[in-house]
Amino acid sequence: MGLRWRSDGYFVVVMLVIIGVIGMCINGDEDGGGVGAPMVETEQEALYSAIQGFVGNWWNGSDLYPDPCGWTPIQGVSCDVFDGFWYVTDLNIGQIYDNSLPCDQNLEFRPQFFQLEHLKTLSFSNCILSQSTVSIQTANWDSFSSTLQSLEFRSNPGLTGQIPLAFGSLKKLQSLVLIDNRLSGDLPVNIGSLTDLKRLVLSGNLFTGKIPENYGYLSELLIMDLSRNSLTGSLPLTFRGLTSLLKFDLSKNQLEGEIPSGISNLKNLTLLDLSNNKISGELDFVDQEMSSLEELILSNNPISGDLMNLKWQNVYKIMVLDLSNTGLTGVIPESISNLKNLRFLGLNDNKLSGNLSPKLAELGNLTALYVNRNNLTGHLNFPLEFYQKMGRRFGAWNNSNLCFPNDKVSANVRPFGVKLCPEQL
Ligand SMILES: *[C@@H]1O[C@H](CO)[C@@H](O)[C@H](O)[C@H]1NC(C)=O
Ligand SMILES: *[C@@H]1O[C@H](CO)[C@@H](O)[C@H](O)[C@H]1NC(C)=O
Ligand SMILES: *[C@@H]1O[C@H](CO)[C@@H](O)[C@H](O)[C@H]1NC(C)=O
Ligand SMILES: *[C@@H]1O[C@H](CO)[C@@H](O)[C@H](O)[C@H]1NC(C)=O
Ligand SMILES: *[C@@H]1O[C@H](CO)[C@@H](O)[C@H](O)[C@H]1NC(C)=O
Repeated sequence: MGLRWRSDGYFVVVMLVIIGVIGMCINGDEDGGGVGAPMVETEQEALYSAIQGFVGNWWNGSDLYPDPCGWTPIQGVSCDVFDGFWYVTDLNIGQIYDNSLPCDQNLEFRPQFFQLEHLKTLSFSNCILSQSTVSIQTANWDSFSSTLQSLEFRSNPGLTGQIPLAFGSLKKLQSLVLIDNRLSGDLPVNIGSLTDLKRLVLSGNLFTGKIPENYGYLSELLIMDLSRNSLTGSLPLTFRGLTSLLKFDLSKNQLEGEIPSGISNLKNLTLLDLSNNKISGELDFVDQEMSSLEELILSNNPISGDLMNLKWQNVYKIMVLDLSNTGLTGVIPESISNLKNLRFLGLNDNKLSGNLSPKLAELGNLTALYVNRNNLTGHLNFPLEFYQKMGRRFGAWNNSNLCFPNDKVSANVRPFGVKLCPEQL
């Protein structure tokens, strides 16, 4: 239970002192119970009752916090003044802070909670623990439809059940974060109609079924993270409409089908992670201009194809390129060494053949290069400093026809698991 001021609370405190001083000058108000703006009694009772429903009946708000928006602030609660009265705007429940209160095993969403008229931010973090099994209240969310902008359930292993359909009524929502809970069922279609959404994070749950097509109409979306669930089906073609997207993570699901070519429409994308799915097709989309791309992670998918004809100059900002275990064939093009920002290159566990160009050592930012378990051949001709710098982060083992030149052995640096070239023995 994290009931404490957020940083914006300090602003409220300062304002409160100012308003309080002005108030005392004007009214000579010395009633210690209500400094500054008053709080409507129904709002105050709604707050007490809401928190009591979350942390348990032992918690007595009116005893402990007689002036919750004023001189006895509650951790995790922020307020603001509307028409001369205090209202609760932010409610952060859960063990966020050192002296937070734990949530009740029988956490309940009381009807009074839905009477908070100006609630903008609601979060439950580390709140519903594994012993309990609580579901999110299904009804009444529409009462927040014109106020709630941010809704978050984070790290609640005891939170089960489905996403309430009534979340679809939260028309002002800009951020929906349901991460690391045990929510299940299909992703509700009506979330696709929350067109103000900028952040949709549903990762680390037990969601199944297909990704609704209309999620592709969330054109304001900056972050879509549906990773670590059990989603199936293919990537909707409508995703070409997610033109604002910066981070797109669908990793660790059971998605299949091809990568839609429309993905290359997402010109502002910096992260694309589709790893650990059953996605096939080819890497054609790299041919398009995706010049913002910094991390492309497609590992552990049956993608296939080769690297030769891709226009790597279109993704020149790339820092992390992980194509390991994707069924790649053919050779590793020397043009990859033009990707100057590359820090991580994973091409291991493929069927790549041919030589490894020593030009890759010219990538000054490269800290990891994995080409192990391929069918590479020839002599490894990197400068000795390269092996020194990389250590085990240069993986070249299990390429049966790749070898390390004998004349370099004396330097006492040797890539792990690579045999000496036989003709020089
Ligand atoms: C909280 O305490 C006050 C005063 O001690 C008491 O009147 C009130 O009934 C209590 N409320 C709850 C919900 O226990
Ligand atoms: C992409 O990013 C640029 C620069 O930040 C911005 O001006 C532009 O509006 C963005 N495009 C979309 C479709 O959001
Ligand atoms: C390393 O990356 C930075 C940007 O992250 C870039 O400015 C720099 O040129 C790169 N260094 C080399 C040696 O390519
Ligand atoms: C590896 O390459 C050699 C030719 O260099 C080829 O004969 C062999 O079939 C390849 N092995 C695999 C597993 O692809
Ligand atoms: C290469 O792969 C085999 C199994 O295919 C394994 O036993 C061996 O340890 C690997 N070699 C290295 C150097 O990792």
